[in-house]
Amino acid sequence: MTVLVTGGAGYIGSHTCLELLGQGYDAVVADNFSNSSPEAVRRMKELSGRDFAFYETDVRDAEKIDEIFRNHDIGCVIHFAGLKAVGESVRIPLAYYANNLESTIALCGAMKRHGVKNLIFSSSATVYSGDNGMPLTESSQTGNCINPYGWTKYMCEQILRDTAFAEEDWSVVLLRYFNPIGAHPSGLIGEDPADIPNNLMPYIAQTAVGRRDYLRVFGDDYPTPDGTGVRDYIHVTDLAKGHVAAIQYCREHAGCEAFNLGTGKGTSVLELLKAFERAAGKTIPFKVTERRPGDLPVCYASTGKAAGVLGWRAEKTVADACADSWHWQSQNPNGFNNQP
Ligand code: NAD
Ligand code: UFG
Repeated sequence: MTVLVTGGAGYIGSHTCLELLGQGYDAVVADNFSNSSPEAVRRMKELSGRDFAFYETDVRDAEKIDEIFRNHDIGCVIHFAGLKAVGESVRIPLAYYANNLESTIALCGAMKRHGVKNLIFSSSATVYSGDNGMPLTESSQTGNCINPYGWTKYMCEQILRDTAFAEEDWSVVLLRYFNPIGAHPSGLIGEDPADIPNNLMPYIAQTAVGRRDYLRVFGDDYPTPDGTGVRDYIHVTDLAKGHVAAIQYCREHAGCEAFNLGTGKGTSVLELLKAFERAAGKTIPFKVTERRPGDLPVCYASTGKAAGVLGWRAEKTVADACADSWHWQSQNPNGFNNQP
């Protein structure tokens, strides 16, 4: 089966493409390189030993997307393409709503025109309200998002739920990722943020490699064992496998279903830092600063639905993810383009 992967040159998309190609699927990738690099695509081909069609296009370009559906017999679409930086979404909300909502609507329109009925959507734990108990289950309260990025995911979920209800035989899977970290064990592909990283793991990795002076730990007075924020960190290759499990599910079920993709285990900022120090064999400087506005003390997934229904569970540990992330960062200190 051929899977159209939008945003397939990005961090999670590239790892998922490799998993798809490794499991015998054909992939067609569409990406506008707004937050990724052609070098990632070149390395995906090298690593998989397989060629695949790549289209440099914005998903909102209906003509180009129609061309893809005409050229390939697409059985399923995985829609990763989107803007994802929380802070940026507060500064330029219109760009976030335009990109994330319009790309999803345009893609569904093209799928409808070409009779493609299976869609897997990159959603996020950020769709859950902040006042839920932990762990978060798929029926925990959603909404009350604290930034425009979160609202785009919430709104896309609603658009897709309504579409799956209206369109006969459509199958939409909403995958709510927790905190993806790590890299491909080869060290050839990994996370390569365009600017100063917002997220903890790439910030730690860039500090370890000398690109940042020290890590700022956003608050050590949370009601957690060491006072720092606790998150559910999931290895990106486990996440990639979750998408393959979702494809199987999609083919056998109609309707719209949400699944958490997490490990069910919480790790604090300082625990992640220490795990990375062990993997890198060096001390990483840090300073405790003020809490970051909008951060929850603790966030982790209930994993029972994905295990029971998709037959998928995360297998790798935080130590595995730190080792792989260090492997990637130390071999590619400046990311894909490797220029200081
Ligand atoms: P990423 O930025 O590395 O990948 C997204 C890719 O989409 C990039 O290659 C970018 O160039 C491309 N893109 C963006 N807008 C596009 C458009 N209109 N047309 C074509 N290509 C476009 O991000 P990622 O971490 O791989 O995230 C993938 C998806 O998962 C995103 O939708 C993101 O919101 C979601 N997600 C990510 C996380 C995370 O922590 N990384 C957590 C939850 C959900
Ligand atoms: N943190 C620091 N210093 C940093 C960066 C982060 O101490 O430099 C802390 C945060 O305060 C938090 C933890 O590290 O306690 C994780 O922060 P991240 O920014 O890495 O991740 P978040 O849980 O805040 O959010 C991420 C994505 C969201 C997504 C969410 C759930 O950025 O888009 O995971 O999937 F919605």
